[in-house]
Amino acid sequence: MVQLHELIFRDAHQSLLATRMRTEDMLPICETIDQVGFFSFEVWGGATFDVPIRYLNEDPWTRLKTLKEAMPNTPLQMLERAMNIVAYRNFPDDIVKPFIRLAKKNGCDNFRIFDALNDMRNMKVPIETVKDVGGHAQGCICYTISPVHTVDKFVDDLLTLEKMGCDSVCIKDMAGMIFPKEAYGIIKGYKDAGGGVPIDLHTHSTSGMEGLSYQRAAEAGCDILDTAISPISGGTAGPPTESIVQAFKGTEWDTGYDIDLLMECRDYFLKIWDKYRHLHRMKAIRPDPSVTVHQIPGGMLSNLVSQLEQQDAGDKYLEVLAETPRVRAELGYPPLVTPTSQVVGVQAVMNVLFGRWKVIPNETKQYVRGFYGQSPAPISEEVYKMVLGDNWKDEVIDCRPADMIEPQYDHFKGVLEEEAVWKDREEDIITTAIYPEVGLKFLKGEAQPEFISEQLPLDKDHPLTRGMVKSFFPELPDVYLEIDPPEARKVGGPAQIPTEFDVEVNGEPFEVKVTPTGGFVVSEGGPAAPGGKPTGDVEGGVKSPMQGNMWKIKVAVGDTVEEGQVLAILEVMKMEQDVKAEKAGEVKEIFINEGDPVKKGECIMQIL
Ligand code: CO
Repeated sequence: MVQLHELIFRDAHQSLLATRMRTEDMLPICETIDQVGFFSFEVWGGATFDVPIRYLNEDPWTRLKTLKEAMPNTPLQMLERAMNIVAYRNFPDDIVKPFIRLAKKNGCDNFRIFDALNDMRNMKVPIETVKDVGGHAQGCICYTISPVHTVDKFVDDLLTLEKMGCDSVCIKDMAGMIFPKEAYGIIKGYKDAGGGVPIDLHTHSTSGMEGLSYQRAAEAGCDILDTAISPISGGTAGPPTESIVQAFKGTEWDTGYDIDLLMECRDYFLKIWDKYRHLHRMKAIRPDPSVTVHQIPGGMLSNLVSQLEQQDAGDKYLEVLAETPRVRAELGYPPLVTPTSQVVGVQAVMNVLFGRWKVIPNETKQYVRGFYGQSPAPISEEVYKMVLGDNWKDEVIDCRPADMIEPQYDHFKGVLEEEAVWKDREEDIITTAIYPEVGLKFLKGEAQPEFISEQLPLDKDHPLTRGMVKSFFPELPDVYLEIDPPEARKVGGPAQIPTEFDVEVNGEPFEVKVTPTGGFVVSEGGPAAPGGKPTGDVEGGVKSPMQGNMWKIKVAVGDTVEEGQVLAILEVMKMEQDVKAEKAGEVKEIFINEGDPVKKGECIMQIL
């Protein structure tokens, strides 16, 4: 017999509907789902914490509690990113521990714990805490393909997780690229080596091989397979629950689940799927077997495309595709899952645009210093030197990264008291610690839901749809963004006219601005423009090396600065990029505010 772990309330709608399903969409079907007898049901964690407070004006803790009350018979599970919890940076133990305790209290029974680098030191505290509060700890390894990620290595890691006290173990194939042979090999290897707790295989339908992989996994003795009820399955989501149940019917792996109940669920979720039709993407539903060749997860590929487009370098796509495995090897083969996929991807883009290891974002430096955890393969001395300089040994840590972080619990409790939103509810402290800005805005009641339920389903050319699709799926202009917004359909509507161009006249670059009256302003270097921003070269001007947003300005007018001092930090492709002083001097003028967009070559400040 195999059992199923159901994904429709977390991974499935995160993969296909931008995590937009609401509690009200879930509740009417809970009683039916609760009768199926799933091994566990994933309802929380991952993006289901961030999206509700950011976009839906919903409290994630309340959702969890409500779902538990509606499904008392089904173990509810969350996806927990070890010391990153439900975000992408490390938190101290005094945030991780209460988070898990409160999740358990509000109705989470099972915790699937994983670390992007499979660093067991990052998983230890979460696993122990789950055990302390009486939960089910599922230790999870991220599946990836590299010379150091052998079947034997994965088997060893799974056995280690079992020794650490896990109640079950899991292979997490987040990119949907596990081959049937490897699925069989790892599970059989674990069982043959005496692995004694249930083993679970999590995959996505990306490659199109998932049915074969599940068959081979079952043959190897796999205990649990991850699936999603069919209307929100397939493609970048998981394999369809009903199909897997039917495929195993009458075999030694028969789940014993009632197909009529599941068909009832299917009918219900067809309506939910339709309600969110403004988020449907053909590309996400189709299999993409190319992942079995280049091994780069789909989400990472589309990020690379949009990041290159932001830097006006869309034509460098193939070079970046070739550079990515090179960077990954130099960084010790991290699995490509957030946040390490971001580090590898952006570094590959930087290497192609500016020369190899010439421009290095702070996140790459932190990774190399060991602040994400230990790299799967050692990093060479040459790479250490290129990234951190000759004194690299002073900067590299060999302890658990979270040991370097100060406690935060009391600080964030203080923040809530100061902001007068402290309601004697510990959950709010954790929400604020994990998402300081968005969390506080939500708790103050200032969060605006992006649309209200009565507006659904939205027209596919509704402006809200366009904004959301644009921010969430920048890679897909072909589906939605070609559809004109209603206000721009009028001929000559302002939204359609670009107002700034970089043009070349006789080989000289000119910046051309089109004013709203239709006249041209052509500027050719020279002093500051009336708006206060210089339009050309300024003596002692510090220029932005790339396009991004101004994240932090570290100096003020009148400050004297040293050569090499960090003047400002740009946010480029969601990563931090230092802007340093090329020579010593005094800050005479600053032309950009924090939060402003910055173009490549734009003058940030003047230093004389
Ligand atoms: Co997944």
